Amino acid sequence: MEYRQNLLAQDRRISTIKKIKLIISLCFLIPACAIFKKNPKLQYKAGHALLRLNHLDKAYYYFQRAVENNPQFFKAYSRLGDVMLLKGQTDGAIEFYDKAIAINPDHIDSCVNLAHTLLPGATYEKSLLLLHKFIKPAAYLEIGVQAGKSIAVVDKNTIAVGVDPEPKISYPITDNTKIFAVTSDKFFEDFDVKKELGSDTVDFSFIDGLHTFEQVLKDFINVEKYSRNDTVVCIHDCLPLNNHTSRSQEITSFWTGDVWKIVQVLKKYRADLNYATIAAPPSGLGLVTNLDPKSTILSDNFDKIISEFRHLDYNYGYKERLSAFNVIENDWEVIKEHIKSKSRKPSKAA
Ligand SMILES: C[S@@+](CC[C@H](N)C(=O)[O-])C[C@H]1O[C@@H](n2cnc3c(N)ncnc32)[C@H](O)[C@@H]1O
Repeated sequence: MEYRQNLLAQDRRISTIKKIKLIISLCFLIPACAIFKKNPKLQYKAGHALLRLNHLDKAYYYFQRAVENNPQFFKAYSRLGDVMLLKGQTDGAIEFYDKAIAINPDHIDSCVNLAHTLLPGATYEKSLLLLHKFIKPAAYLEIGVQAGKSIAVVDKNTIAVGVDPEPKISYPITDNTKIFAVTSDKFFEDFDVKKELGSDTVDFSFIDGLHTFEQVLKDFINVEKYSRNDTVVCIHDCLPLNNHTSRSQEITSFWTGDVWKIVQVLKKYRADLNYATIAAPPSGLGLVTNLDPKSTILSDNFDKIISEFRHLDYNYGYKERLSAFNVIENDWEVIKEHIKSKSRKPSKAA
């Protein structure tokens, strides 16, 4: 319940002056709500002040009044979700976030909080850090580096290659990290990958570039060419939240693209691979082991696969998605055992 604790901590971190201001505002808001009983905006403001002051039951009361008076008030539903989350009632929180999202699929707070409620625990960045410590890769390849948050966790002895047409590195990266400011396709076409990696094969790779299914499939095909059967490949955003946030077009602020289709492709076309999704927030981390650099199944069937999956819609329920995406617990011991048992060769890690 790390995320819930963070929410609580945020609320408790307010300064004394802020607290006094909130209490003063409530001296006006509560009588005003008693007079204007049908005014959802006032009720929302009162609920919000009470929530900041950590008066959860009272906050719940005012947010409830707000949604009774305006059943389309998605922000009030979202706050009801926050109250439930802070009370440790996750099922109730999920229900309220769902209501908010049903009214406004682009409500970022509801999407983020729902994603973290459904997938509690360490984020994907933490999983990547632990994977680096465990695999101890000599060669690491990352597609999509952005500010460098994920590539910054590599060990100083790892030769790390990052590929991104628009890198905006602001995290400290090691001296052994090379950033190539090109698209992944261009990188695989124009560069001597083995030379850049300082090795014939990659030990660990993270695919997090262009979030379209076609590109992820291409990236996976290219990465596998430089893999061994004990290489570990992670793919970001393999467990979407809902239909709106998982389309190829970015129509919501919380967006994971249609990367998730790669999971269904691998399950259907590459049963020889071991695929699992770590239930890491906010949107899952795909974990592929048992790679086969000689396999041409995906490249031979590329066009067929694209036309087969291009128009597929994401329509899985929260429980249903667990088996559909081979979800494993977001627990480091479980992840470690999964890698140990699913890699054909023992990994280099202890
Ligand atoms: C979600 S961000 C990566 C975040 C980073 N991995 C992290 O966790 O901190 C996606 C990145 O992919 C990059 N990108 C877009 N198209 C790409 C392509 N064709 N090849 C490689 N990277 C691409 C974008 O410029 C963006 O910086």
